[in-house]
Amino acid sequence: MKYFLDSAKIEEIRYARDNFGIDGVTTNPRHIMNSGKPFLVVLEELANEFKNDPEFPISVEINPHLDDADEIVAEGKKIAALSKNFVIKIPCCESGLTAARRLEEEGVRTNVTLVFSPSQSIVPAKNGSKFVSPFVGWKENSGDNAFDYIRDIVKIYKNYDFETEIIVAALRNGFQIGEAAKAGADIVTCGLDVFKASFEHPFTDYGLGVFRNAWDNTKES
Ligand code: E4P
Repeated sequence: MKYFLDSAKIEEIRYARDNFGIDGVTTNPRHIMNSGKPFLVVLEELANEFKNDPEFPISVEINPHLDDADEIVAEGKKIAALSKNFVIKIPCCESGLTAARRLEEEGVRTNVTLVFSPSQSIVPAKNGSKFVSPFVGWKENSGDNAFDYIRDIVKIYKNYDFETEIIVAALRNGFQIGEAAKAGADIVTCGLDVFKASFEHPFTDYGLGVFRNAWDNTKES
């Protein structure tokens, strides 16, 4: 399973790449806003940072106000022309799916996002989108069992040999990362805090204290 960082902050993306070897990045308009920088400045920084690693995918979401396939295609092409790393993130709605199909036909990779049901995952896969992004955290917040639908999407993709990779997104804790891996997700994407919390444990810290104490109190030869 690959790990993507869900962020538009260049410093933390660099940190996660250098220290943890993340496999890609996902962004969304909220992450761009939280970076405190204009959209195009963030894109320029990301393009520059990864220009020597064209296989490192960076999902960039199109302007969410666009609701016309021609306009989404035009904007998607403009963004994709800025960097070989950029994958165009498009919402799972009629105009978005039409645009994603056309972009993939023209060699622009797409990530169909805001997916909340198994049936929503099928058209992006039939159309050859590179990625699909089901949002676990948002589902759980609404009282749904979020991993049933992840398991269903994994099964559907296996049944029909779909090649679209499943990015399990909007993860809030280490438990959910484990569940995504158990379900067979290709990729998880989460913030740096969630990623770090997933490999930490209070008992590890406690155990370290116990062993340090023993080390310090061992008789010297
Ligand atoms: C995923 O691709 C999204 O950017 C992300 O997970 C959205 O959810 P969040 O911002 O609530 O985590």
